[in-house]
Amino acid sequence: MQIRKAVIPAAGLGTRFLPVTMSVPKELLPIIDRPLLQYVVAEAAEAGVEEVIIVTSPGKESISDYFQPHTALEQRLEAGGEEGLLAKVAEAANLAKVSFVVQHEALGLGHAVLMAKDAVGGEPFVVVLPDDIIAHSPGAITQMVQVSEQMNAGVIAVEALPWEVVHNYGVVDGTPVSDRVYKIQGLVEKPPREQAPSNLTIVGRYILPPEIFGCLENIRPGANGEIQLTDGLLALLRDHDLYAYQFAGNRFDGGTPMGLLRASLAFALDRKDTSKEALSILREFQGRLDQS
Ligand code: UTP
Repeated sequence: MQIRKAVIPAAGLGTRFLPVTMSVPKELLPIIDRPLLQYVVAEAAEAGVEEVIIVTSPGKESISDYFQPHTALEQRLEAGGEEGLLAKVAEAANLAKVSFVVQHEALGLGHAVLMAKDAVGGEPFVVVLPDDIIAHSPGAITQMVQVSEQMNAGVIAVEALPWEVVHNYGVVDGTPVSDRVYKIQGLVEKPPREQAPSNLTIVGRYILPPEIFGCLENIRPGANGEIQLTDGLLALLRDHDLYAYQFAGNRFDGGTPMGLLRASLAFALDRKDTSKEALSILREFQGRLDQS
């Protein structure tokens, strides 16, 4: 299963980030100085992905603008001898070939993925959600590609979370087959704790065969009018093996304000050029910690 293409759904409403998402797409919110989207495009590129298909929506043109060449800015930086900044400006566009498809209405994650059907064609691909940011080297997608090659099947990323929170997530029912790898028997979306088949929760990285598109096409929208990816995966499971992979790395939820703050702090502490300042900011708040 050579994975050459990635689909990144970025057409959601971002309601948990209102009001800023009235005019700034959630996917362009930054961790330090790069948008969430850039972290996941880089993770896909590291895994050998050559083409990234971003699903956007009307009004989110700033997402495609971000990946266009910025000639005037580059000329200005070049004239000023700003080599470091020039490299940063060119970075996003150089990671992979990026194209865009439009989801006109936010009809669910499964529907967003379906919009990329023609762009993906008949080959396996990876779906990457930009609000799940995973810090690790090698990246989670690189790790998953290896598992997918070994098992010759689709792979879904999972992480073990405390049982008290699993009711907020998609959960996998799986049988262990090797270190970190489970054969998936079923999937449940947001189960009550007592009905959860495991505490392995689904994270936004899926290596899938192209047959997922036929499955998604045959799904009737749920009560809220949305087509869920989980329903497509359940249909896929009838004829295809799927594995869950407990990736190595820390996952951050970039889809909520406090999750993004946590990610920003963690990245700032890890990055050579920001760690000192990040530590001194934390020290400023030490008094608050002592009081609480
Ligand atoms: P989320 O459910 O986390 O994003 O979907 P959201 O719906 O934008 O956020 P909230 O819940 O309202 O705060 C995960 C990813 O799937 C995309 C989102 O843009 C996000 O990157 N998505 C979701 C779509 O592209 N289309 C959809 O219809 C739904």
